[in-house]
This record gives sequence, structure tokens and C-alpha cells, in this order.
Amino acid sequence: MDLLNKNAIVTGSSRGIGKAITESLLEEGTTVIGWNRTKPGFEHERFHAIQVDIADEHEVRRAFEETLDLVGKEIQILINNAGIGYKGTTEEMPASEWRRLFNVNVHGLFYTTQQVIPLMKEMKEGHIINISSGAGTTGIAGMVAYCGTKHAVHGISHALHAELRYDGIKVTCLSPGSVHSNFSKEMGSPPSKTNKMRPEDIAYSVVHALKAHPNYHYVDMEVRPLQP
Ligand SMILES: NC(=O)c1ccc[n+]([C@@H]2O[C@H](COP(=O)([O-])OP(=O)(O)OC[C@H]3O[C@@H](n4cnc5c(N)ncnc54)[C@H](OP(=O)(O)O)[C@@H]3O)[C@@H](O)[C@H]2O)c1
Repeated sequence: MDLLNKNAIVTGSSRGIGKAITESLLEEGTTVIGWNRTKPGFEHERFHAIQVDIADEHEVRRAFEETLDLVGKEIQILINNAGIGYKGTTEEMPASEWRRLFNVNVHGLFYTTQQVIPLMKEMKEGHIINISSGAGTTGIAGMVAYCGTKHAVHGISHALHAELRYDGIKVTCLSPGSVHSNFSKEMGSPPSKTNKMRPEDIAYSVVHALKAHPNYHYVDMEVRPLQP
């Protein structure tokens, strides 16, 4: 897809991986509508910020209406990036935290995706990229709920790809290993000394997948630091 003059929704665009994806898309000439709970600390003439908690279906509907008011009905790209983690043993994990993780990482992704599908079907064009994780294909002690949500993102992405491919809609699952961001801090983890990937490298993979020929499709992308 040629990214010039296209419209993209990026969830979790205020920092980390989502911010890097947003910046790369803006460089390509795409208009970006960023969905976050808080207002991002940057501005651009083609960047529109909408405050929304993607875990709330009604808020997502309202955010989508606001998005249509801003850019019209042609939304070619959805990057389902917003996500949260939790570190702690299963027996100690509050059930409310378990639900919060699934509400944001899994149900939120469903709410956003459901909004864009009819428009993409009408255009016979669209690309949805779901940010999963290395935790989406393996098990990590102390991150059972997070692994569960990211395994779900993996399975949902594959099934969506099968469901939407003949409508001209691409669905990609991008699964990074550790990336430099506030993600671990948000979970309350101490800063790690590992050699993590840069958010801009994940953004590079996103742009690369989006630019592929219409009949060439990345179903799954796994990216890891070479020497963690
Ligand atoms: N960092 C890693 O090592 C790593 C590795 C593999 C996969 N991932 C995945 O990559 C994605 C982005 O992670 P990151 O490292 O960039 O994390 P981050 O720095 O913590 O950023 C998370 C972003 O998501 C937004 N967000 C969180 N909850 C939200 C909600 N309920 N509604 C709307 N927006 C919400 C945040 O903005 P607000 O707080 O303003 O809402 C923020 O912009 C996540 O899905 C994560 O699971 C991260």
C-alpha cells in the first residue's frame, strides 16, 4: 500500500512503540488518529489525538465517530498496539487485574477492529496490524495473564486473516521480543539491563509490512534483539 494520504488509527500512540509507529507513518505522509487514555505530548498537522479507553466498548464507538468526523470514512490502516502487562504470581494476582488485562489487550482489540471492518470491506482495502509479543507463543513464569492475552491476540490475528483475506483486507500479527519503552515500568518491574530493541525498529517493520504488494502478505512477523 502506498502510505501517502492514507488514514491510520494507532491505539497507544502516546509513547513507546505506538509513538514510534505514529512518527514513521507521519513521515510517510499518512494521517494518524491516535487513540489513548491520556493526551500525547506531541503535535503534528496530520496527527489527531482522541482520548479513549479501548477497554470500554461505548467509548470506542464514540472515538470511532469522532475519527470519522475528522478524516471521513476512508480508514485504510488500524494498528492495534495499546496493551498493558502484569507481573506477579497467579495465586496472588487480583482477579480485577486479570480482567483488566483481558479487557484492554483482547476485548479492546475486538472493539476497535469491529469498527473498521465494514469500511475496509467497502473499500476492498485495509491493513490491520495487531501487536502481540514473544509472550504470545511461549510461556513466561509470573506473566500468565499477559501470556494468555498475547496468545489470544495471536490466534485472533490468524483467524481474522483467514476471515478477511478475500475482502482485500490484510491482518498481520507482529510479535516483538523486549523493546525499550515504559512498558516494564508500568508493570512495576525494575529497569532491566538487557539489550532491548528500539521502538523505531518495530515501526520500521510495521511500515515495511504496510508497503508490501497487494498480493504479498506478512501473516506473522517475529522480531527479536539479536543479542539480548
Ligand atoms: N515493550 C516491550 O518489551 C513489548 C514487547 C512485546 C510486545 N509489546 C506490546 O507492544 C504494545 C505497546 O507497548 P509499549 O512497550 O509501547 O508500552 P507503553 O510504553 O506502556 O505504551 C502503551 C501505550 O498504550 C496506551 N494504552 C494503555 N492502555 C490503554 C487503554 N486502555 N486505552 C487506550 N490506550 C491505552 C498508553 O497510553 P495511555 O496510558 O495514555 O492510555 C500508551 O500509549 C503493547 O501491546 C505491548 O504488549 C511490548
